[in-house]
Amino acid sequence: LHLQSTIASPHQLWFLLYDVNPGEGFNLRRDVYMRVASLVKRLERSSDWTLVLPPWGRIYHWQSRGLQQLRLPWAAFFHVESLAQQVPVMEYEDFIQVSGGPLIEQVYYFQPYAEGWTEGTFEEKVDARPCIEEPVYKLDMACLYRGWFWGYVKTRALNFSCLSVQGMASIMVPILQKNTSARSVLLDRAENLLHDVYGQKDYWDVSSDGLSSEMTYDRAACILKPGVGWQVDADLDGALRFPSHIANWALFYVAEVQELRRLLPEMVLFEPTQDELELYKDGGVAIIDQWICAHARYFIGTALSTFSFRIHEEREILGFAPSTTYNRFCGDNETSCQPPTHWKIVY
Ligand SMILES: *[C@@H]1O[C@H](CO)[C@@H](O)[C@H](O)[C@H]1NC(C)=O
Ligand SMILES: *[C@@H]1O[C@H](CO)[C@@H](O)[C@H](O)[C@H]1NC(C)=O
Ligand SMILES: *[C@@H]1O[C@H](CO)[C@@H](O)[C@H](O)[C@H]1NC(C)=O
Repeated sequence: LHLQSTIASPHQLWFLLYDVNPGEGFNLRRDVYMRVASLVKRLERSSDWTLVLPPWGRIYHWQSRGLQQLRLPWAAFFHVESLAQQVPVMEYEDFIQVSGGPLIEQVYYFQPYAEGWTEGTFEEKVDARPCIEEPVYKLDMACLYRGWFWGYVKTRALNFSCLSVQGMASIMVPILQKNTSARSVLLDRAENLLHDVYGQKDYWDVSSDGLSSEMTYDRAACILKPGVGWQVDADLDGALRFPSHIANWALFYVAEVQELRRLLPEMVLFEPTQDELELYKDGGVAIIDQWICAHARYFIGTALSTFSFRIHEEREILGFAPSTTYNRFCGDNETSCQPPTHWKIVY
């Protein structure tokens, strides 16, 4: 609750909450944080908004049994004070305290336009529209909306509506400032908002402090022992072949750790003890994996993986040469796999 001291007195507060498609993993969620944080930065200029951090839980890749992995605060994984240096942030439980209860005044649920994208030009727009799918928010007996709300079963919303959106996160600035008088607004399915500042200054400001050195949801495998070109033939959809000069310090990312362990018994992996697992949880273990990959002498990722994107960013910040960073496994007949990428998964 010490963050409260950095924000204004209650009558001046507006709260922006958000949530993401339940199927999404750690890395996309982190990316959506940056989009919403840059939206809050824009709002800040004319009023006093606080970004309420959506509690963690129900991440598909967090499968360790017997751990409490629901309603986790951001402080379990992040240096929240660093995030707060960029935009005012607050944990959800603090929001309940400060705002007087588990009540959110307005929920906007983002959806695409029923008629699809406008052909040709990209036009930014947002409109109140009937919900395309059966709403996940439902009225209860007290005429309040029930919903998932990160597993907080007592939370309710006063009002709910669907918004069709096509555009950057900043398209919500006028809506939040003019169209609603609600003091707490939840943007659900916030992954529908695009980056305003991807790769620009705000983006790095927001991302390079509190969000660095953390999160991923699959495991990274670290191969430390020298080998004369890995040649693994088995059921892992083929073979992984490494030239000998990198074989002793290659890092790569795999989804199927168990399978790889069988194929590459020399593989070295960070394996938490039960105590460490309870302390860090699956999310924290994944952060350690990502840290290892970010600091590796050489990194080979996979195509279109948010895991790999995050590591690329980290490595850029850390100053690694692009040739040690922008490598990925190429499919056999892939034509767009550009150098320095030249590693192949051999089937
Ligand atoms: C916001 O308000 C403007 C002006 O009243 C209106 O034209 C627009 O449709 C509203 N937008 C949404 C998403 O409610
Ligand atoms: C609920 O939201 C809709 C759409 O934004 C708005 O037209 C309506 O006035 C709101 N109702 C209340 C009670 O705030
Ligand atoms: C790649 O192309 C070769 C020759 O055209 C073909 O025989 C092979 O099946 C292709 N491999 C894959 C994985 O598509």
